[in-house]
Amino acid sequence: MTVRVPAKVNVQLAVGGARPDGFHDLANVFLAVGLYDEVTVSAADSFALTCTGPGSDQVPLDRTNLAARAAIELGRRYGIAPDVRIHIAKDIPVAGGMAGGSADAAGALVACDALWGTNASRAELLDICAGLGSDVPFSLVGGAALGTGRGEKLEPLDVAGQFWWVFAAADGGLSTPAVYREFDRLSPDAPEPVAAPALLEALRTGDVEALAATVTNDLQPAALSLFPSLKDTLAAGTAAGALAALVSGSGPTTAFLTPDEASARAVATALTGAGVCRTAHVAPSPAPGATLL
Ligand code: C5P
Repeated sequence: MTVRVPAKVNVQLAVGGARPDGFHDLANVFLAVGLYDEVTVSAADSFALTCTGPGSDQVPLDRTNLAARAAIELGRRYGIAPDVRIHIAKDIPVAGGMAGGSADAAGALVACDALWGTNASRAELLDICAGLGSDVPFSLVGGAALGTGRGEKLEPLDVAGQFWWVFAAADGGLSTPAVYREFDRLSPDAPEPVAAPALLEALRTGDVEALAATVTNDLQPAALSLFPSLKDTLAAGTAAGALAALVSGSGPTTAFLTPDEASARAVATALTGAGVCRTAHVAPSPAPGATLL
């Protein structure tokens, strides 16, 4: 069973103060983007995990991997031993702030549900996802959604048409907890996070200029503080004609919103030519969530 799962970009990531449980309340506007990992599961004598693709050498291959934990949790709920071989074919930047690990978890869950014939309801799959990580429920549903709470409470959003993006992968990764700690240091009095009405309206009407004028990421100052060279990448994308340039999630991938596919390809070529990123990927949004192929 093979499941295709999308990456995400946050067009708004509003972050509040640290909660007693250590997480932060968010107003998180997710867009799934057409940059995918593929997760394949097959029956085996014992558990095994393999991973190929860019950055795969940094992916843990034991039971701590989020995809493994997804399979184990589904098996636990249905009394099935997780004797599966999981293979992850990666295209989403690893530790890049694009929810690649979350995507793999959602993919493994849907694939095992199909392999084992457990037929879990959407609500149960979403419950398992929320237990695995804040971004995993969105990887399952895809499209566009507002995430509140720690990001796991989802409300679908309407989007007209398509938006074209460039994602510049950086050399190296950023740890999400470290970026949130830096956020706490830089913003000790963060206000309560709220979704911006003008941004939701830009999505609903498919107005790329209005979206470019309203994208925000409260984690960006923290990511730039820990990874200062990202400022050069952002500036190079803007100089090459991107309408908006921002850090994707907790980074260090940077995201560039462009008027159309041709402009996106030009921005990607300029970014790689300027030597300010490892690779640049062009992708449209929104994209579907985890899909059994
Ligand atoms: O939920 P997830 O495992 O993806 O979160 C990774 C880390 O990111 C958490 O351990 C926490 O440090 C930070 N985080 C947070 N507030 C959120 C989501 C994540 O502080 N809403």
